[in-house]
Amino acid sequence: MSSLRIGVLHGPNLNLLGSRKPETYGTLTLSEIDTRLRDRAATLDASLDTFQANHEGALIDRIQAGVGEVDGWVVNAAAFTHTSVALRDALEAVDLPFVEVHMSNVFARASFRRASLLSDLAVGVVTGFGENSYLLGLQALIEHIRAGQ
Ligand code: DQA
Repeated sequence: MSSLRIGVLHGPNLNLLGSRKPETYGTLTLSEIDTRLRDRAATLDASLDTFQANHEGALIDRIQAGVGEVDGWVVNAAAFTHTSVALRDALEAVDLPFVEVHMSNVFARASFRRASLLSDLAVGVVTGFGENSYLLGLQALIEHIRAGQ
């Protein structure tokens, strides 16, 4: 079983986790979530690279730079999920497996959050489990990649 390299992308406003709408997103900070992800990745024999940006282009640059560096992505594109053709095109272009995650249940919120420009390209989607959405997404991605090796 080879060690996998997993990248995590956090989109706009997720740097505010901990104080942003705690009733929706909980009270953990982004760095606390990243620590939990890194610990979980280690137990699954994977290394983790995490990246947050508020800018669409920065996320796209990171996706492009990940070719040859990561084996797959865990992606919470936040609001860009619902708007960004450019992010979708980047994920499609690099052709690496990714899991789309959301902390909140996007289907239980405003209707514009139900539309995702990423879901049909994703291996799968995890939505509504708070920080566990990331952890479940990470585990599912790793199992998916290993199953194909
Ligand atoms: C989110 C859901 C999005 O609709 C929203 O824009 C976010 C966070 C989530 O994790 O629940 O910023 O992706």
